Amino acid sequence: MEQQRILVAVAWPYANGPLHLGHVAGSLLPPDVFARHQRMKGAKVAMVSGSDMHGTPITVAAEKAGMAPETFAAAYNASHKESLKALGIRFDLFTSTATANHREVVHDVFLTLLEQGHITKRSMTAPYDPTARRFLPDRYVEGTCPHCGFEGARGDQCDNCGRTLDPQELKSPRSKLSGAAPEYRETEHFFLRLPAFEERLKAWTAQNEDHWRANTINFTRNWLAEGLKDRPITRDMTYGVPIPLPGYEDKRIYVWFEAVIGYLSATKEWARLSGHPEAWKEFWLDPKARSYYFLGKDNIPFHTIIWPSMLMGYGDGKGRAYNLPYDVPANEFMNFQGAKFSKSRGNLITVDEALSTFEPDAVRYYLAINLPEKGDANWDWPDFVAKVNDELVGTWGNLAHRVVSFTRKHVDHVPPAGPLGERDRAMLARIEATHATVTDLLGRVELKKALREVMALAAEGNRWWDEKAPWKQAKEDPEALKTTLHVGLRLVRSLALLTAPWLPFSAEKLWRTLGETGNVHDARWDDALSDIRPHNKVHEPTVLFTKLDPKMVESMTQAPPPAAAAPAAPAPSPFKPQVTIDDFAKLDLRVAQVISCEPHPKADKIWVLQVDLGVEKRQILAGLREHVKPEELVGKKIVVIANLAPRQIRGLESNGMVLAAEVDGVVAPLTPAKDVQPGAGIK
Ligand code: MF3
Ligand code: ZN
Repeated sequence: MEQQRILVAVAWPYANGPLHLGHVAGSLLPPDVFARHQRMKGAKVAMVSGSDMHGTPITVAAEKAGMAPETFAAAYNASHKESLKALGIRFDLFTSTATANHREVVHDVFLTLLEQGHITKRSMTAPYDPTARRFLPDRYVEGTCPHCGFEGARGDQCDNCGRTLDPQELKSPRSKLSGAAPEYRETEHFFLRLPAFEERLKAWTAQNEDHWRANTINFTRNWLAEGLKDRPITRDMTYGVPIPLPGYEDKRIYVWFEAVIGYLSATKEWARLSGHPEAWKEFWLDPKARSYYFLGKDNIPFHTIIWPSMLMGYGDGKGRAYNLPYDVPANEFMNFQGAKFSKSRGNLITVDEALSTFEPDAVRYYLAINLPEKGDANWDWPDFVAKVNDELVGTWGNLAHRVVSFTRKHVDHVPPAGPLGERDRAMLARIEATHATVTDLLGRVELKKALREVMALAAEGNRWWDEKAPWKQAKEDPEALKTTLHVGLRLVRSLALLTAPWLPFSAEKLWRTLGETGNVHDARWDDALSDIRPHNKVHEPTVLFTKLDPKMVESMTQAPPPAAAAPAAPAPSPFKPQVTIDDFAKLDLRVAQVISCEPHPKADKIWVLQVDLGVEKRQILAGLREHVKPEELVGKKIVVIANLAPRQIRGLESNGMVLAAEVDGVVAPLTPAKDVQPGAGIK
């Protein structure tokens, strides 16, 4: 049989901040579970995505940080990659939309659609801020939502009712920059002519609705029912993918039009990197291949209306049909402690924060057993501890541990089974039944239900073990004990395979413990049905999951403390105890010139400085980010301690320390009063 090709396309997270658990639940963990299962099923999978580097979400955040958007986005792209790796989200390629390859593919799609007449140029009126004297991005216009009356609606979307909006539709609009009422001025833009695709889209969705989720069907039907309109796909801004035609230097391709093309460009990049530059075609041009798009529900129309239209038009131009999405499993939202997560409310848990205290499989488990597949889900810290302790540690970890450690007490290999009793046969039949159900659910992207089935098998395994009471058999019937151990090890081995898509780290550990060779993720899914090899060596069990102390989350469930009241008057600190000149001489103070200043991807108060010390260049981390802008540092000469022992701060090394004066939150880096060369000593 020909190997099934599966494209796992993952919504591109904006590079405007670190990945948080909302991203993971909404669009990152589901495709990872799905793709891991498909790979084990023997499918050829390309799971691709990357950071979305463009658009106002980036420019706004970069401006706040006082950085160039390119540098800012690049730092978060690096941070995304690290977080994904730490959490075991295994992409075939996680790239970014800032690559030359992406730009090329976007230009090709743009020009092909233009040639086909699917893109037209037209003059439009756009919001213009007369005070700030610039065109406003849609989301910079705020006002009252025409649908629900919400007063804080943005020009691109209403956060209250979720509808996408045009800024013109807002009532009492105002500019976010100056508060002024926007004027509408003429500006020339390119439009994607969606109405031309309406009939084809209707036919295509009708074919697919039988396997789509309700939310995907509803959003798509609503869009189609309202009637499609031409949509502008360029913007008045100077950051982003340029328009591949002369005369549009002050305009860019709209981030949404461009980012979805990332699925195609990333598959091409992956193919090239893997040494088979044509391999992308197997996923995009072979009609037998299937593509699954994983995303949050707010992204649905872009993936069931706009991107399919673009693909149809592009395919027309290329004379070949490009595969349209087969499934678009969209998730609802993950809330935190019952509230919508938000940066300002301080209830946004980043991946790195979660992993600084908890094991990746514990975090994955709690998200997976709570996935917002059909309705919103909730991250609740006490519930996290309870589920990890009761289900992961108490049920599954316990079963694996009991079986393996009990085996080790008596033998150090898998004993051959004697004749099976009825209860053992029922246990084995249950493995088969669960395997079949879970396979079916995973194929239909019902990931939460599938995991529940796997966990139910583990719970059943504990009941079976208790009934068999091997501790009695050990005394009364050593032959029967061998059978119990054999069946128990076989069950645990099947569960190692069945849990692998969700719990990759513990499954891998357990696989080794059971004396299996190779990686559990290279094993076959259907191997969960095979018997365990007798005489396989069984190793000492290792801890699969750590039991959590409820105290670990106590501080996390409380609201962040109110900001401390500022002291009445700024007061310099009292003096430290006296030192001698020899104490002072131990410090090697030097003048250093700052070469670059980047944000620490994992610590939001820290700048990562590269400095020139005359004889060498160094990296120094400085906690100045809240107080000093990069332009106040780059190129400047500052004073550093050059012989301070190196120190790691969240994964990056600091080789020295920047001297700065500080009083009451005002921080001023020291600079020499005359120009001296970098490396000059200080006495
Ligand atoms: N970065 C956007 C978001 O997070 C878009 C993601 S999907 C894409 O909402 F395919 F369009 F990139
Ligand atoms: Zn609304």
